[in-house]
Amino acid sequence: MSLSGALGLYVHWPYCARICPYCDFNVYRPKGAEDALLDAILADMRGWRERTGTRRLTSLHLGGGTPSLLSPVALERIVSAAAEIWGFEAAPEIGLEANPNDLASFADYASIGMNRLSIGVQSFDGNALTRLGRDHSVDEAVRAVEAAQKAVDQVSLDLIYAWHGQTLEHWRGELGQAAALGVGHVSPYQLTIESGTAFGKRVARGDKLVLEPDDAADFYSLTEEVLGEAGFERYEISNHAQDLAAQSRHNRLYWEGGDWIGAGPGAHGRLGAHSKAGRIATEAARRPQDYIDQVMSTGWGVKSLETLSADDERTERVLMGMRIASGLDLAEVTGFTGLGIDEAECQRMSELGYLVRDGEHLSLTREGQVLGDAVSMALIP
Ligand SMILES: C[S@@+](CC[C@H](N)C(=O)[O-])C[C@H]1O[C@@H](n2cnc3c(N)ncnc32)[C@H](O)[C@@H]1O
Ligand code: SF4
Repeated sequence: MSLSGALGLYVHWPYCARICPYCDFNVYRPKGAEDALLDAILADMRGWRERTGTRRLTSLHLGGGTPSLLSPVALERIVSAAAEIWGFEAAPEIGLEANPNDLASFADYASIGMNRLSIGVQSFDGNALTRLGRDHSVDEAVRAVEAAQKAVDQVSLDLIYAWHGQTLEHWRGELGQAAALGVGHVSPYQLTIESGTAFGKRVARGDKLVLEPDDAADFYSLTEEVLGEAGFERYEISNHAQDLAAQSRHNRLYWEGGDWIGAGPGAHGRLGAHSKAGRIATEAARRPQDYIDQVMSTGWGVKSLETLSADDERTERVLMGMRIASGLDLAEVTGFTGLGIDEAECQRMSELGYLVRDGEHLSLTREGQVLGDAVSMALIP
């Protein structure tokens, strides 16, 4: 099933009650401008309507930051504005990334139209939660997953692994607990150290916070093994689902080169996946106040808009397409961009055992998945 004709809406809510030491998303502590930001996001959505025309939405995803800090009334305003401005296709995916601390609101979500919740559990071990700087307990995380399961059809949970000192047995236990909760989707993320974060500064001072790459590769393999035994299929490097219905349709728009609107501070968007004139890439103003000012002065939040060159579009399609288990369709890449890949490098990567080529179809092997973007980048001349 391809979603490349579909249109999604991503709304970024940048506020978090506490900034986690590993996180380099576009996040801020609330400073009292939340109402103004919500109004600006709604105005930005109306501004976008002029650019998208009369297309209906396949998906709406509220990400962050912590969109579960928004009250159900505020969330309802966003969902109904989307319905009024574009309208939804039949059975849209309407999802939200939630922190376990906000579980009290989940019961109200279904009446707003939400059908997918992704819960930031991160770990089922209290000591690990403390190391990761999380401000919720294991008990709260489990209760949040259970509350989400009562509230909506599709529940996913995020876990972080490969932190310094973690053992394979510990990680096996974490995955087992995730599977035992009966969710349809799990996103295990390998802890990455980003410069500028509190963890980035500690690592620069010499602290060891993550495992060595070779050890992390064993964790990656164990993830697929344990979740596979529990009935999950890895359909993207960091995403495992019980079945097609449990996969994230919104995220598939990113991986499959579809169109999506990006509203909210720092949100990225893509339009014109099938346009002969080229694919348009947008980025909204990053800081909340700059974003509010941008919407007030221009009618939408977009700060930069460019038509991707054929080269850039090829890079994006190769990097994204190689992440999914179903793989990359080279004929599609050439059809959209007029460009091919580096055939000699492709042959070399295949001989090294990092990818498999079947005619015009490429996919990463387990060894290639561990190296991720490095293999995909080698394919770009
Ligand atoms: C943008 S966050 C939003 C989720 C929500 N605010 C929360 O923290 O529960 C999405 C997910 O990215 C993952 N993440 C963020 N930074 C990471 C990092 N440096 N390494 C690994 N995973 C990370 C976390 O698992 C997190 O749940
Ligand atoms: S991980 Fe979630 S809660 Fe923590 S800072 Fe990032 S977006 Fe905010």
